[in-house]
Amino acid sequence: MGYLFSLKNISLHYMLKQEKINILNNISLKIKKNERVSIIGESGSGKTSLLMIMAGLQRASGGLMTFENYNFTKISEEQIIEIRKSKIGMIFQDFYLLPNYSALENVMFPLEINKLINPKKKAIAILEELGLGKKINNLPSELSGGEQQRVAIARSISFNPEIILADEPTGNLDAKNSSIVIKILFDYSKRYQKSLVLVTHDENLAKKSDKIIKIKDGEIEDND
Ligand SMILES: Nc1ncnc2c1ncn2[C@@H]1O[C@H](COP(=O)(O)OP(=O)(O)OP(=O)(O)O)[C@@H](O)[C@H]1O
Ligand SMILES: [Mg+2]
Repeated sequence: MGYLFSLKNISLHYMLKQEKINILNNISLKIKKNERVSIIGESGSGKTSLLMIMAGLQRASGGLMTFENYNFTKISEEQIIEIRKSKIGMIFQDFYLLPNYSALENVMFPLEINKLINPKKKAIAILEELGLGKKINNLPSELSGGEQQRVAIARSISFNPEIILADEPTGNLDAKNSSIVIKILFDYSKRYQKSLVLVTHDENLAKKSDKIIKIKDGEIEDND
C-alpha cells in the first residue's frame, strides 16, 4: 500500500546570530491514504513547524520528504505551489481568512484558482452543509470565531484535497464549536477516504484518530 506522505530524518534549524537553533530533528513518519493522524506535544515542541514543512510552506533543512510521487525536498517552489493548491487543504489556528472577502468569496477562491466548474454553486453547497447558509455574504469580521473556523474548513475541503493539515483547528473554540469542527473534518476524511493530520493539545480528541504521533523538543517521542 502506497503512502501519501513519507518523511525520513526531516530536520529544521534556524540560524540566529551564528548560532544554530534546532527546531526539528530526525522526524520520520508515514501517512497513508485515508488515514487520520493526530500530532500532539507541548507548546514549542515543533508541531506547527512540522505541518508547515508538510504543506510545502517551509523547506526542511535536511532529510527527505515525498508526497505521492513527488520529492518535496527537491522540486521547485512553483511545482510545490501547483501540488498544494489542488491536493493539500490547510487549516490554520488563526483561520487566515481573507479579511475583505465574504465567506462565499473565501470558499470560492481555491475553486477558482483550480479552475473547477461552478465555483459559486459548489461553495454555497459546502457553506450550507456546514450550517453557514445564512452567512455567505458576511465578511470574516462579521462572523464568530466558530463560524470563521467553519469557513476556513469549507475553504480547505472545497476543492477535494487528498489531505487536510489542520493546526489546532479547535484551539480558539468553545466545546460546542470544537465538536462541530472535529465532526466536519472526520466526516470529510471518512466520506471521501482522504487523509487528515490534526494537531491538537487535546488527548481525548487525538484518540479519535487512527494514529497518534507525540513530539517532544522537535523529536518524535511516540509513534503508535
Ligand atoms: N522563524 C523562527 N526563528 C527561530 N525560531 C523559530 C522560528 N519559528 C519558530 N521557531 C521556534 O521553533 C519552535 C517550535 O515552534 P512551533 O511553532 O513549531 O511549536 P508548536 O509545537 O506549534 O507550539 P504551539 O503548541 O505553541 O503552537 C519554538 O521554540 C519557536 O520559538
Ligand atoms: Mg503551533
